[in-house]
Amino acid sequence: MGSDRTRGTHEREWWRDGVLYQIYVRSFADSNGDGIGDLQGVIDHLDHLRWLGVDGVWLSPVTPSPNLDWGYDVSGYRDVHPDLGDLDTLDRLVAEARAREIRVLLDLVPNHTSDRHPWFVEARSSLDAPHRDWYVWADPRPDGSPPNNWVSIFGGPAWELDPRTNQYFLHNFLVEQPDLDWWNEDVRREFEDIILFWLGRGIAGFRIDVAQGLIKDRDLRDDPPATDDDPPDVRRRGLRPVHSLNRPEVHQIYRRWREIADGFEPPAVLVGETWVPDMDRWSLYYGVADDELHLCFNFAFVFAGFRAQALRGIVDVTEKVLRPLAQPVWTASNHDVGRFPTRWCEGREAASRCALMALLTLRGTPFLYYGDEIGMTDVPVPAAETRDTVGLRLSPDEGRDPCRTPMQWTGEPGAGFTGPDVRPWLPIGDAASVNVEDQRADPASMLHLCRDLIELRRRTLALRSGAYAPLATPTDVWAWRRGSDVLVALNLSDRAAALPPEQGTILISTDRRRDGEPVRGELALEPWQGVVVGPSA
Ligand code: GLC
Ligand code: CA
Repeated sequence: MGSDRTRGTHEREWWRDGVLYQIYVRSFADSNGDGIGDLQGVIDHLDHLRWLGVDGVWLSPVTPSPNLDWGYDVSGYRDVHPDLGDLDTLDRLVAEARAREIRVLLDLVPNHTSDRHPWFVEARSSLDAPHRDWYVWADPRPDGSPPNNWVSIFGGPAWELDPRTNQYFLHNFLVEQPDLDWWNEDVRREFEDIILFWLGRGIAGFRIDVAQGLIKDRDLRDDPPATDDDPPDVRRRGLRPVHSLNRPEVHQIYRRWREIADGFEPPAVLVGETWVPDMDRWSLYYGVADDELHLCFNFAFVFAGFRAQALRGIVDVTEKVLRPLAQPVWTASNHDVGRFPTRWCEGREAASRCALMALLTLRGTPFLYYGDEIGMTDVPVPAAETRDTVGLRLSPDEGRDPCRTPMQWTGEPGAGFTGPDVRPWLPIGDAASVNVEDQRADPASMLHLCRDLIELRRRTLALRSGAYAPLATPTDVWAWRRGSDVLVALNLSDRAAALPPEQGTILISTDRRRDGEPVRGELALEPWQGVVVGPSA
């Protein structure tokens, strides 16, 4: 690829102009034929990411783990899981990525460890074990029941009685994922050291798992009942997690981490997995003075339906609550919530193209999930092949395997993910119909649309940093200006639509036949069609 990529206006804050890409490592590419994606597989496909125009990747956890929660149950914070490679391979990955102007972010899981982490193994051995108070322990109530009413995000009580010491320990997720006690200064120091360990190896930053959850109420007060105003997942659990999660004291931790991040050149980037339904409170994770996380995932956007009014409403609120330097994040797929071509678009490609156009042209930093660029859909995983503990233990409907299946590189058996005779760790979707190789050969494909949108963004200042201004539109059309001279319009309906007169040129359309079309007068849009209009050349 050309060596003249403009780096944009924000050299130190490269992520402001950049596009990030989440790699679920176990499912990206298997280099050694064991059916499991690995770090060497990522290295082998960096050229794809370079060609696509990605500026940074976030790797789902690569650290050792017994894999009850596929890496999110960490048993060692300074090493690489042997299924995925080793530290040397990770160092090589960072160097190879850098050679392609791609930065590497890791997933940091500070809320809990695996119950097999040596800290917890030791902590549970006796009341006075040195790491005992690294975790949240409490005595049973007089009747033997758990210390309070908290429930696990994965269902059931958040407390487990440990018979050896007759105290309960807290687990906001699986029972094999005991929560750390972030009131403990030693825990804080340890994680600062872990952060420095990775940043010192050239890691560009972190995606912080369960960022809103680290601190729990010091007095372990009961969570209050959910109300009708709460989001569906909160109502389902019946409690509003204001004491078990979402404590305001967590902000101290991020101010400290931001200082550490700013000590690097360029500064490391901190990305929060911030499931905070209240948008004002969510915005606080950026810090009141731009002194906490650089980027915060916006789950209100993720869970808005793919309808013009709903999306516009969320984006308008987001723009309103964010303080001046706070950079919005747009993402629509990940390893928990599913893939947008299924979740938002019911597998209709025209709709998925509109979604990609929105992600890449709103004001802010887009995060793509591996496979988004080819419109990969969720893959139904038969019960016998279920790997996600949530699906196995709680309910098959909630299992997250369908959005974690192997990347579809080619239409061959094994999909270019693994060898033709190898059984992949999760089943492969319909790679004969949807794969990188075929789409690369087809300039009208979703893959080329994705790449061309990224490229357009890179060379169009208004798309990188122009202000967002929504336009009054027919009900099912979502349209906005970026800066003074770019217009984005998406018709999210089955009926043709038109926008008031415009002057300019279609810079790119979801239907590539319209690229370059002059616009003079009314802007007509076919059903499920999107355009970016800019000044005439
Ligand atoms: C985050 C991760 C999810 C994991 C959970 C517990 O939400 O994204 O995959 O199960 O944390 O660690
Ligand atoms: Ca492998």
